[in-house]
Amino acid sequence: MRKQIAAANWKMNLTLSQAETLLNEIVATPHHLGENQQAVFAVPAIYIPLALEKLANKPHVFVAAQNAHQKQSGAYTGELSASMLASIGVNHIIVGHSERREYFAESDALLAEKVDAILSIQSTPIFCCGEPLSIREAETQNAFVEAQLKNSLFHLSAEAIVKVVIAYEPIWAIGTGKTASSQQAQDIHAYIRSCFATKYGEAVANEISILYGGSVKASNAKEIFSQPDVDGGLVGGASLIATEFAAIINALS
Ligand code: PGA
Repeated sequence: MRKQIAAANWKMNLTLSQAETLLNEIVATPHHLGENQQAVFAVPAIYIPLALEKLANKPHVFVAAQNAHQKQSGAYTGELSASMLASIGVNHIIVGHSERREYFAESDALLAEKVDAILSIQSTPIFCCGEPLSIREAETQNAFVEAQLKNSLFHLSAEAIVKVVIAYEPIWAIGTGKTASSQQAQDIHAYIRSCFATKYGEAVANEISILYGGSVKASNAKEIFSQPDVDGGLVGGASLIATEFAAIINALS
């Protein structure tokens, strides 16, 4: 059975004392996670040790990184590798967020290398895909997202692909307050799953968790997550408020 996941993406937000306050609030705010559910906190890299300490021993809760380099070590000033992250207990890494694709020119080919690097050490990539507004308006989002998946993931074996978590995030819904309707989310999630089914077979496709991202809040999470092909969310803004994010975790069930 595929996992349901509520993933927080703090992005480049909060000072140390603010991060500490938020982590304390998260720990103090009750949430429910079932056997097959996970909460993942992608905090800024500098706060990972603090998050690991604060969230230690919380069942089904993981700390994640927002990015990693495609190489495991070497002369890459300013970068962090998947191996380095794993060595401190971080085994989930966001790959190819639209902000990294856009502002750091991350290409499909580079993201394929990052996914390989993460999987090669048994960590979990949270692979982001999603179309800009112009593509949605032209109604070519299915082909756009399919190309992203093909170019960065379809070289993987069936055994490897089930270890990848997909986050579908329409760029026009990120940080804009505009959310895809639950029907729009379901339609494209079903399409994404059908792409995996065509390539790897139904059974494999049904094992892959596909998260929705883009202005998920406590008030809309339940409806979006209730769609049959939506397995949770990747949440930016609302993950910076402990009670909001706890409600989003609770919306998984
Ligand atoms: P948002 O961000 O929830 O603030 O729209 C989502 C994301 O970028 O992952």
